[in-house]
Amino acid sequence: MASPRDVAGKILIADDEPTTIAMLSDLLFEEGYEVDGVGSGTAVLERLEGEHDYGLLMMDLQMPGMNGLDLFERLRKESNDIPVIVITAYGTSSTAIRAMQMGVYDYLQKPFDLDEVQVVVKRLFEHQALASRVRSLEQRADLRERMIGRSPAMGQIYKTIGRVAASDASVLVTGETGTGKELAANLIHQNSSRRSGPLVKVNCAALPETLIESELFGHEKGAFTGAVAQRKGRFEQAHKGTIFLDEVGEITLPVHKKLLRVLQEGEIERVGGTGIVKVDVRVVAATNRDLLDEVKQGNFREDLYYRLNVINIHMPPLRERRGDIPILVEHFLDKYRYKPSAPPTRISEDAIERLEQYDWPGNVRQLENEIERAVVLTQGNVITSHALNLSQHGIPTQVDLATRVRNRETLANVLAEVERVMLYEALQQSDGDEKEAAHRLGLEPEDFHQRLQSVK
Ligand SMILES: Nc1ncnc2c1ncn2[C@@H]1O[C@H](COP(=O)(O)OP(=O)(O)OP(=O)(O)O)[C@@H](O)[C@H]1O
Ligand SMILES: [Mg+2]
Repeated sequence: MASPRDVAGKILIADDEPTTIAMLSDLLFEEGYEVDGVGSGTAVLERLEGEHDYGLLMMDLQMPGMNGLDLFERLRKESNDIPVIVITAYGTSSTAIRAMQMGVYDYLQKPFDLDEVQVVVKRLFEHQALASRVRSLEQRADLRERMIGRSPAMGQIYKTIGRVAASDASVLVTGETGTGKELAANLIHQNSSRRSGPLVKVNCAALPETLIESELFGHEKGAFTGAVAQRKGRFEQAHKGTIFLDEVGEITLPVHKKLLRVLQEGEIERVGGTGIVKVDVRVVAATNRDLLDEVKQGNFREDLYYRLNVINIHMPPLRERRGDIPILVEHFLDKYRYKPSAPPTRISEDAIERLEQYDWPGNVRQLENEIERAVVLTQGNVITSHALNLSQHGIPTQVDLATRVRNRETLANVLAEVERVMLYEALQQSDGDEKEAAHRLGLEPEDFHQRLQSVK
């Protein structure tokens, strides 16, 4: 068996002269391509029907039976868009020209100039790679902006987004992590009359308290150490567009007053500045915290809360709209298919059932990650429940620590969950034998038993 190697591309050669096939095969194999040869047009059709991963067809124009141009026409009629390079004998340039007019990629004349063959084939594969990359990016960009869900709760959300998009009112998007708050903000902007202006996103949690003011409102030269030049803030950048204040609950009291002013008057003042700047910006804010609670505790200004929350959009957790899980799965299978031309990976009934029963603490983001992972790991074309990473007890075995820190979960909480997962997992791997499970985890049986009682 040939040793595995990186294949630069797979090529099918059609020529009724075996010597031509042999020569081209040798040359292209040296260059890293996988090459097959056939002797007629009908053989090409049969081959392409069974195998879809050829990146190039090189064919002679004169072949017995079906000639090259007929073959080419037939392929295109069947919507097979495999790139084609034609091989012509010296002195048949008029057919070559006709072939080019019909849309073949290039032609090569016999006897071959070997360098030319190499260059033309290499360039073709480079073009193809680029084109498929562009297609995949376009497709992903397109998919990224789609919100999926047919449940009544999602129906309400579409309606609200449609209504608020047409207005300039501030919107507060609430909901647990991974429920699609940022996606909602994107849709509001895209469907609004402000889409000629930019959508500027600020992650308030990522900015230290000392920087957030200058980030949002800008600063004048020399306003503080390090302010070597005047800088426009995010509100100014978002003029005529939308600003998305993600994790708005992280903004601290000292900045609230300035934020209130821009919401009420449309005016900002740069840090260290003297004059006011007028801005026309729609504000969409998001939080996974209970802001009203923060208001009660005195951590968030009440008047600012009501200014931000003119319209509230609450993204429901996934476990409250389980009916949407199958179409979300379809959507992500489509998004993460291994290449744009490939059919989406399918999923088995029992895998879908497990996904529907699971609790999804990380909501749609977690489901998306789970599907992406399963697509990558699945050999073959169908994801079965074995490929899923969900613990039987509805506890995620992969804890996204960064998200949890962001959600302000306490260390004690996360450790408790890890403990629970490990205890159950050990128990399962020991077929319910507590002693053995304790041993696996390096615990005394009594200790194991007590811990198990307390996490139940
Ligand atoms: N209804 C949906 N349809 C399709 N994709 C969705 C949906 N909801 C969320 N997603 C996808 O899930 C991922 C997480 O969504 P998003 O970033 O909007 O969540 P979030 O609520 O802002 O989370 P966090 O609070 O952690 O910031 C994104 O990739 C998003 O495209
Ligand atoms: Mg977010």
